[in-house]
Amino acid sequence: MLFKNPVTVASGTFGHSERYYDLEEVKRLGAIVPKTVTFHPQTGNPPVRIVETASGMINAIGIENPGIDAFIADKLPALKSIRVPLIISISGKDEEQWVGIIEKLNTQEGITAVELNLSCPNLKNKVLVAQDAQATMQLVKQMKALSKFPIIAKLSPNVTDIAQIAQAAEDGGADAVSLVNTFQAMAIDVKTRRSRIGNITGGLSGPAIRPIAVYMVRRVAASVKIPVIGMGGIMNAQDALEFLIAGATMVAVGTANFINPRAPLDVLEGIEAFMKENKIDDINEIIGSLKV
Ligand SMILES: Cc1cc2nc3c(=O)[nH]c(=O)nc-3n(C[C@H](O)[C@H](O)[C@H](O)COP(=O)(O)O)c2cc1C
Repeated sequence: MLFKNPVTVASGTFGHSERYYDLEEVKRLGAIVPKTVTFHPQTGNPPVRIVETASGMINAIGIENPGIDAFIADKLPALKSIRVPLIISISGKDEEQWVGIIEKLNTQEGITAVELNLSCPNLKNKVLVAQDAQATMQLVKQMKALSKFPIIAKLSPNVTDIAQIAQAAEDGGADAVSLVNTFQAMAIDVKTRRSRIGNITGGLSGPAIRPIAVYMVRRVAASVKIPVIGMGGIMNAQDALEFLIAGATMVAVGTANFINPRAPLDVLEGIEAFMKENKIDDINEIIGSLKV
């Protein structure tokens, strides 16, 4: 997988937002990652689905999406017409669903890679697939064997040692890993003593998580040979450069899109300006250049 630049969007924060697709600016992104698609349509969780917290937000959307058939019929043609590499994020509830989604995607052309959103239940162990190294390895291996597209494993930060899970994804044959997904979180209304989120718990994203995400990207990049896509609270080029220096070969902009829809382009232009200023011709001079 070779991209014209290292900036993409994080799944679930760019939607299947057809109204943006014609914008010349969107066409400049390195890649686009739409919202995770599941086998069946999902209506998502009850409101409230998003609350703002200090330097971040908690969301519990519940992967609202039209399901793989409607996605392929109604969303994919418009996404393809943007002519930016497409990374399709998918998630299954069981083996049959994962296999079913991959088989349906295999009938399509014009997809650059498939991202496995591993923050889904692992029915055997009652934890997320991304919290179980063995389950991660097996699922990646199975998807890699079936998929005609490269496989990216998206990891959860809600683990004891994310490098171990990244290693399992690499052992399973993943072409890349992406991290981090959101951190399990809560916010409570002290007057009502109820959670401020309809689903009671949710996932924390935004600048609040960035230092932990940078740390995790650093650990993973030092542990595996496959490329790392870094994300978590990237608001500007400076933040993105932290991830690149830590070892990410690509960065994704998520929560920032809710504040500034132009954030991914600002990040891209900021990286270009940094390179010009510092007389750097090749982004590889930045990637993994952390001095210790
Ligand atoms: C509203 C919202 C919806 C999200 N939906 C998804 C999703 O469908 N699939 C997925 O893999 N990650 C999803 N994420 C996680 C982001 O892709 C990203 O991993 C995370 O938010 C950290 O990056 P950020 O701090 O830049 O947002 C979602 C995040 C937010 C805020």
